[in-house]
Amino acid sequence: MSATRQEVAMRQVFERIVADPDLHWATMNLYYYSEYHGAEGIAALAARTEATNPQLAEALVHHAEDEFRHAAMIADIMTDFGDAPRPPLGIKYVDEFAALATASSNPDQLDEVELLAALNVTEKRGLFSFALHVATLPKEGKAYKLLNQVKNEEAGHVRWGNTQLARLKAEGRAAEVQRAQTKFEIIEQAAYETSLDIMPGAPLRRLRRIVDIARELPPEHQIPYVVGQFLRAANPVPLLGARWQLVETILSSARLREQVGADVRRILAGQPLATDSLLGRLVDDARRAVERLWRPLTQAA
Ligand SMILES: [Fe+2]
Ligand SMILES: [Fe+2]
Repeated sequence: MSATRQEVAMRQVFERIVADPDLHWATMNLYYYSEYHGAEGIAALAARTEATNPQLAEALVHHAEDEFRHAAMIADIMTDFGDAPRPPLGIKYVDEFAALATASSNPDQLDEVELLAALNVTEKRGLFSFALHVATLPKEGKAYKLLNQVKNEEAGHVRWGNTQLARLKAEGRAAEVQRAQTKFEIIEQAAYETSLDIMPGAPLRRLRRIVDIARELPPEHQIPYVVGQFLRAANPVPLLGARWQLVETILSSARLREQVGADVRRILAGQPLATDSLLGRLVDDARRAVERLWRPLTQAA
């Protein structure tokens, strides 16, 4: 999907989210988790780099402070929506990224190029999501004001990362930067897709993403990486949790229950489901997921 088409599709998703208070709260709950645990991860990196690279450590401490503050701002918006943050179920983007990224690097040696490339790619995702989300919010509300501030600060984090990576390139490490950026872009995309993928065949698609990442690693690390990540991904509980959370969200949202009721009435009346209906979208996603799963086999046949 081209960037523009993806943006249009994402904007439609955000319009639906903003129009539904339960979905909006659940989305903010995921942001809160990402910001808070992202901040913890960056603070831990700052502590690890303190002895060898104090200048980088200091920048990371400020960065972590920003992310903790973002979490507090998002919690503030959520409280206005009616409920404080609580741990989301399912596979969380920030955790999946951390697990895939950590195992892809040498655990004994924290490399500045790898660290900055990894951080930069997740900041870009944050900026992309916040920018689209903010664009769909009414400008006069508190949610707009706070989330717009978060978005602007994420843009600052992206700029800082870009500058650091450009400096490393200028210092003769361009090939390393390029390699690290390619690897972490694949890891980031994998973490993002895995965190959203609750459709049939999700564990197999997750394994395929792990194999794609392993191809970017030195040959001697490829098999241990796939085995380690496959064993980690074998736990079915988070995926079941994510599916249950979707059911719970539908059950707790009068608007979503109404949509499902309307879909069921159409099914009972023998009418086709509209593609933008909730069940229609789920059925469509499931059909596409199954098609994607079997396409390589049918192509090979
Ligand atoms: Fe943030
Ligand atoms: Fe950030």
